[in-house]
Amino acid sequence: MKIVSVVGARPNFMKIAPIIRAVTSQPSIEHLLVHTGQHYDEKMSKSFFKDLGIPKPDVNLEAGSGSHARQTAEIMMRFEPVLLKYKPDLMIVVGDVNSTLGCSVVASKLRVAVAHVEAGLRSLDRDMPEEINRLVTDSITDIFFTTSPDADQNLIKEGIAKNRIFFVGNVMIDTLMHNLNKASQSKILHNLHLKPRGYALLTMHRPSNVDDPQILKRLAGALAAINQDIPVVFPVHPRTRNNLKHPALKNLNAQLSRLKLIEPLGYLDFLSLMTNARFVLTDSGGIQEETTVLGIPCLTLRENTERPITVTQGTNVLVGSDPKKILSEVKKILAGRHKKGRRPKYWDGKSARRIVETLMKLKKNNRLLLVPQR
Ligand code: UD1
Repeated sequence: MKIVSVVGARPNFMKIAPIIRAVTSQPSIEHLLVHTGQHYDEKMSKSFFKDLGIPKPDVNLEAGSGSHARQTAEIMMRFEPVLLKYKPDLMIVVGDVNSTLGCSVVASKLRVAVAHVEAGLRSLDRDMPEEINRLVTDSITDIFFTTSPDADQNLIKEGIAKNRIFFVGNVMIDTLMHNLNKASQSKILHNLHLKPRGYALLTMHRPSNVDDPQILKRLAGALAAINQDIPVVFPVHPRTRNNLKHPALKNLNAQLSRLKLIEPLGYLDFLSLMTNARFVLTDSGGIQEETTVLGIPCLTLRENTERPITVTQGTNVLVGSDPKKILSEVKKILAGRHKKGRRPKYWDGKSARRIVETLMKLKKNNRLLLVPQR
């Protein structure tokens, strides 16, 4: 079986790492790794390949940044010749970034079977570009690998046949479990002069939080207030760094500079910070899942989540961008009154193995494509 797997942006790398390990351990599989180049900085891309032991991509499309249409179009134009030349049986995409959508469309039209890892998640919020990416990708996916039963239900509601949906668990947690030991050797706490449980960790880069200066200002005010009770460590995403320069935030600059603003971190350093944090504030998707498994309280700076299992079973609480709600939840955590949570089913480190076993079975039975080619 010939497989192409695609990565493009930061959250893709930790999802593909265990899949590549599982795929390349099968002598009957020939594998090609394509990086679209959606993310390209050392800190947003290369350092993850190093930390996670992902082999150098066989092809880098170097599509780069741009508006949604431009970036997606670049990815599609550059990906098509690769698929035409390599002629795989199957393409694996992960998550919900523009690369996921662009490459799925290309593969689907060339009648290459599309396997979507992390299929079926829905925030029902179409203001999120990722929600559009999830909907479009799943509308042309052939094989759906899901992380939670709610995702299966979403797909079934959208008319997907049950025998195309495979609940395999969470590959991001495969990566977390594989790297916990290594992360414990990170020097990041020492370098930042932090003590275990003595700080809060923040990530924030969603356009809905950082592109509107008024919302960003409101959030920045709440963060400055939290920082008076407990130091806030904030690895700043390039999108956020640009937007923090807006004149509307000028009055907050002095307060914000008291937060520990640092460059984006590699996987192992970030995992070490997350494992030792008192709590995490985030608008990321994956971090809601990782904190659930680590048992670290997580306050999500969003009104909704496509990962509701982290709220119903995990440590996650949705706080949106309302400073009052944020500060009241922080107070609860600091008083020791936070959700304890438990680990969802199949978030056990074996998801990539389940994925590859399923793919080999489907190939053997000639069932990779949802609708066979005429
Ligand atoms: C993308 C994903 C988002 C994911 C996030 C993680 C989409 C629609 N969004 O958002 O789901 O959570 O990645 O980071 O695919 N930039 C750099 N260096 C880089 C890459 C980007 O400086 O290596 C800057 C550029 O100014 C760029 C901006 O960041 O314009 C945004 O990058 P982009 O890939 O468009 O979206 P993200 O906000 O990173």
